[in-house]
Amino acid sequence: MGLITPSDFPNLRELYTAQLRYLLSAENQIVKGLPDMIEHADDARLKQAFQTHLQETEGHVSRLENMLGDLIGSPEDKKDPILLALVGSGENITKETEVGPVRDAGLIATAQKIEHYEIASYGSAREWASQLGFAEHASILQKTLDEEKHADHLLTQIAQQTNASASAVAA
Ligand SMILES: [Fe+2]
Ligand SMILES: [Fe+2]
Repeated sequence: MGLITPSDFPNLRELYTAQLRYLLSAENQIVKGLPDMIEHADDARLKQAFQTHLQETEGHVSRLENMLGDLIGSPEDKKDPILLALVGSGENITKETEVGPVRDAGLIATAQKIEHYEIASYGSAREWASQLGFAEHASILQKTLDEEKHADHLLTQIAQQTNASASAVAA
């Protein structure tokens, strides 16, 4: 899986660069995974939320590519195994449920795990960008962080309805 050893990060700049490369891999995996989630979601608001976030996620990819271009001259990613596992767990939920509110509840749970992972990762990256004096990166990362938080918040709202409908599904 290509995990790198601590000696590959002699300083914060290297750690920051690696974080952006993992995030680029994560965002690319999300761009690949979201169309399936859109297709399998039943609730119209959920489908729309995933669709909107897919467009935002394409923007997150471009932002990371530009920042990595500044840092290392090329937008090379580094495979993020955590996203791979999270996307895999989402695929299992789809296989193990029927279309409807129970599946929607599972899809929302998976999506929120991914959002929280992104929120934590972007929060660290933004702090490191500030510390390293990359003020423009810090403000770009803040924009993405705000979109991740908004997506997470919207999913919490949609889940209120979805979870109520899911709990009414007969055993
Ligand atoms: Fe994102
Ligand atoms: Fe996201």
